[in-house]
Amino acid sequence: MDPNLRIKKLRDLINKYRYHRLVLDKPLVEESVEDSLKKELFDLETQFPKLVTPDSPTQRVGGTPLDKFEKFTHPTRMLSLLDAFNEDDLGEWLERIRRIDPKAGDSGYYCELKLDGLAIELVYEKGILKIGATRGDGTVGENVTQNLRTIDAVPLTIDHEEEIVLRGEVFITKKEFEEFKAEGYANPRNLAAGSIRQLDPKITASRKMDSYAYSLITDLGQKTHEDEHRILHDLGFKTNPHNKFCKDLKEVQEFRDYWEKHRESLNYEIDGIVVQINDEAMFRKLGVIGKTPRGAIAYKFSPREATTKLNDIIVSVGRTGTLTPVAVLEPVEIGGTTVSRATLHNEDEIKRLDVKIGDTVVVGRAGDVIPDIKKAITELRTGKEKNFQFPRKCPACNETIKRVEGEVAYKCVNKNCPAIKREGMYHFISKGAFDMDGIGPKIIDALMDAGLVRDAADLFTLTKEDFFNLDRFADKSAENAVASIQSHKKIALDRFIYGLGIPHVGSETAVDLARKFGTLEKLGSASLEELAAIKDIGGVVAKSIFDWFAHDRLITKLKKHIAILPVESTQKSNKLKGKTFVFTGSMESMSREAAEELVRSHGGDASSSVSKETSYVVVGSEPGSKAEKAKKLGVKILNEGEFLKLVQ
Ligand code: IVH
Repeated sequence: MDPNLRIKKLRDLINKYRYHRLVLDKPLVEESVEDSLKKELFDLETQFPKLVTPDSPTQRVGGTPLDKFEKFTHPTRMLSLLDAFNEDDLGEWLERIRRIDPKAGDSGYYCELKLDGLAIELVYEKGILKIGATRGDGTVGENVTQNLRTIDAVPLTIDHEEEIVLRGEVFITKKEFEEFKAEGYANPRNLAAGSIRQLDPKITASRKMDSYAYSLITDLGQKTHEDEHRILHDLGFKTNPHNKFCKDLKEVQEFRDYWEKHRESLNYEIDGIVVQINDEAMFRKLGVIGKTPRGAIAYKFSPREATTKLNDIIVSVGRTGTLTPVAVLEPVEIGGTTVSRATLHNEDEIKRLDVKIGDTVVVGRAGDVIPDIKKAITELRTGKEKNFQFPRKCPACNETIKRVEGEVAYKCVNKNCPAIKREGMYHFISKGAFDMDGIGPKIIDALMDAGLVRDAADLFTLTKEDFFNLDRFADKSAENAVASIQSHKKIALDRFIYGLGIPHVGSETAVDLARKFGTLEKLGSASLEELAAIKDIGGVVAKSIFDWFAHDRLITKLKKHIAILPVESTQKSNKLKGKTFVFTGSMESMSREAAEELVRSHGGDASSSVSKETSYVVVGSEPGSKAEKAKKLGVKILNEGEFLKLVQ
């Protein structure tokens, strides 16, 4: 074939694949297919250097280094935003703009995630990316086209002849940032800026950058800001799928609160939301004050670290007996929730942090779920702070504790420790186990404190009258509680096993055991060797199961009340037999647990880690590193739709 024609066809196809993968989020082929087409294109272009054009997909790799950047004058000034930090600030903003036009805000707001990156401007002429520039001082920026070309999310060509000017944000993924932290970049914004302002485009190309478009400067008939995003998306730009129209400030507040709580599910950093008057005519009418448009505001999240006073350290006993020191804090707002407890992990951690009771401490969120203590501010000490003495006995039962070999944690080994029993009860009623709706930890506490329940089996003999003895229970609620318990007298074997709370036996292992042995009796009489021979069950787990059955008295008692159903009762088919699935990211139609259950109900296995043995990795939105690992290992990747097709 004529190389000219072949090159053109290759470019068109690569661009199409890229568009479906990045902009529509619906890849048509594996990325490796795209890569091999790119390789062919690259080889052809090497052979015929005259045919290389700046918009070729191969030109994303980065050209020759520059001495310094050319200046670029923005066609219109690039503004910045005023910040709001709380609901009052937001309300005041609306008041201010309503003084200019009382109708401001009436037709709603467009809310966007505020990306922690670097603002860019892109200019396309005759459908080709001509200029990509940084914001600079807002009037004059730097021409960084060569570098922006290396970013996959920035289209090199678009299907639009007339000149188009638009703006967006370039940012770096959290994962990539982690790798560069050591080099002294303070935040992802810093690293993104540093990567874009590299004179050698190859350096930019080597960093995984992404981009979302957020404003269209050229008038293409957009009436609202939402329109603008749709037009940008239709032109082939990546726009953020989480952006949302909100009809009033109440919805804006909800949008902000939602993302403050869920920002960790994203693979990039956001530091708030951007709220913009949706109606373009109104937005323009409101005008500009100083460097900021009146019609938009950045509504920031509350900080994720805060200082507070450490009032006390208590030690909690977990379900498996592990002793965890917990900091009791003066309540403080962090990332949208009030925090009054934080984990101190273990004795070594307390030593490492050198915290004392009475200290002012910095509290943050580890993995952003469980608050933890980052450090003690020793400069603020008064001398009245007290050292914490880790207990030598279990705080719940006063029996001796042991340090587990190879671990930093201490454990209470008393089988009758009331704290362990209580935690075991919480586990028994929890979602993955008996899932007793209407019965929560508070009711368990009340029942145990009143001496009505000592173990899980006691639950099943409770009567309505027993509940009357507790506070807060009336006729109806007592009846409901009893009914809820009674409705769980039949349970699948795997849930039963999981509910026992055998150390190291999670829900997946419980399913494996139920499948392998079929009945509780067979599992109970299995030898240590038999247990250890099961796939995915190691020596430690096998021993834990074996020991449990050797000493158990609960099961005999429970069996008087409960009918255990074979695990097959949920079996729908066997069509996934021998297939192992790993899920990453969140799916739209169901939770991960439900998806795993679905796989099992068709005879397949669900696992949490990817290996060569994995048959499929199902990728939802905001997937983790598992997707990449799957790619590396050549494991087949499915999106949600493909997965559903497979099971239905
Ligand atoms: S709209 C007048 N939308 O936040 C500026 N900005 O000062 C209008 N940013 O420098 C910007 N994500 O770089 C907008 N979804 C988003 C954004 C966003 C991040 C940055 C932008 C600007 C700063 C606000």
